[in-house]
Amino acid sequence: ANARLTVDPELVVSPVHRRTFGSFVEHLGRCVYTGIHEPTHPTADEDGFRQDVLDLVRELGVTTVRYPGGNFVSGYRWEDGVGPVEDRPARLDLAWHSLDPNTVGVDEFMRWTRKAGVEPMMAVNLGTRGVLEAVDLLDYCNGTAPTAWAKQRAANGSAEPHNIRMWCLGNEMDGPWQTGHKTAHEYGRIAAETARAMRQVDPTLELVACGSSAPDLPTFGSWEREVLTETYDQVDYISIHRYYEIKGEDTHSFLGSAVDMDAFIDDVVATADGVRAALKAEKRMMLSFDEWNVWYQSRAASVPPAGDDWPVAPVLLEDRYSAMDAVVVGNMLITLLRHSDRVTAASQAQLVNVIAPIMTEPGGRVWKQTIFHPFAQAAALAKGSVLRVAPTSETFPTAQHGDVPAVDAVATWDEETGTGALLVVNRHPENAQDLAIDLSRLGDVRVVEATTLHHDDPFAANTADAPDEVAPVVRDDVTLEDGTLSLTLPAISWSTVALT
Ligand code: AHR
Repeated sequence: ANARLTVDPELVVSPVHRRTFGSFVEHLGRCVYTGIHEPTHPTADEDGFRQDVLDLVRELGVTTVRYPGGNFVSGYRWEDGVGPVEDRPARLDLAWHSLDPNTVGVDEFMRWTRKAGVEPMMAVNLGTRGVLEAVDLLDYCNGTAPTAWAKQRAANGSAEPHNIRMWCLGNEMDGPWQTGHKTAHEYGRIAAETARAMRQVDPTLELVACGSSAPDLPTFGSWEREVLTETYDQVDYISIHRYYEIKGEDTHSFLGSAVDMDAFIDDVVATADGVRAALKAEKRMMLSFDEWNVWYQSRAASVPPAGDDWPVAPVLLEDRYSAMDAVVVGNMLITLLRHSDRVTAASQAQLVNVIAPIMTEPGGRVWKQTIFHPFAQAAALAKGSVLRVAPTSETFPTAQHGDVPAVDAVATWDEETGTGALLVVNRHPENAQDLAIDLSRLGDVRVVEATTLHHDDPFAANTADAPDEVAPVVRDDVTLEDGTLSLTLPAISWSTVALT
């Protein structure tokens, strides 16, 4: 089938925001313990961090990392995770029915972020704690005055303030599963007062209020309206979370997931702008899409332990991703980029082992899941400005999203360096697409490299033994003639084109 699109450097959506390529490390399963941190691992450094994992985190191109949860944060006392490790208490992690030895806490995490070259995004507990504990954590992390907390941080080995700019005011407080779950009114009040107090310490912080955990929750829409009405002046972002999976056998709808994600973002933007109008406010609320991914929530791997079993770092949410999952993840990145005018921060959930692009064996190997590739490629290629493109292609029917166009894409163009990128998916379940891309408006450009990720078996996955089963391959069959680039996109594929 024939498909077309035009790249026009004048159709600028916004700058590419580096924070679009954020990730998430939660005290959950093996994300922290035997994920980023494993002192007995052969590659562990002097702080117990796995350097094989750090290498892949850098290769992934992650920019910000949200921490320490997630649902975990709603039962967390941050004080348990600081000070001499031998004195730290083991605690019940209610969210994941696990035992947290607290051998990693905020100072270890901050040390890790410096090694990984990422910006931290810290969450405070507004489920079971409140204003003062959040201010204490802020003072412990960023304090420069000779306060008890700042002195304690220095005594614990971090003389310099951590200087954390971005803070999440709780996590998924709309979800009935959340420890300390709240109504929109209850949450809006505590979030506003926490934000106000944190701003009394430092007015330049960037604060994120909890939006809805998913659009299918009954409170979606009214939650955002009430929470933003309370917090509008005090926060910079409303969060938005979304996960997709194949429901039953419905791969068609799964392939069209980004259609739902586009609509979800549009609805949150509209709701936030409605509050802005009602409050006669000047600023526009930005969106922090701080949990997104493919997650097979209905599979057994997502069910936490129960009863008397409170294990440390159990195997939880260790989804194995397929080629098809990588295409859907790539499409989600396209959606995030095309909404860069309002989605200015995002975190893929999560980074290591737990619904993650990077997998580890305790004491052993590390490998890249299929979804590693679209993330790493997009993070490396998207520079300068995001350009709106409007591909035309055949459609395929889906049960959940109506007729979905096969081709979806976004382009970026960096005026300064004269380089550009095209990120494109063919989400058609059966048909290849012959795509013609009009590049004439970019002037005299050439293709630096074109790649495609595709597997004849869309359910093929990578393993420690076959880590490159699904990976992008460099194309040598792409032509550029008279300003038109032609490439064939196999069914269920993710492709990149780098231009200069
Ligand atoms: O990322 C896994 C979980 O998903 C997080 O802990 C929670 O915030 C969300 O429901």
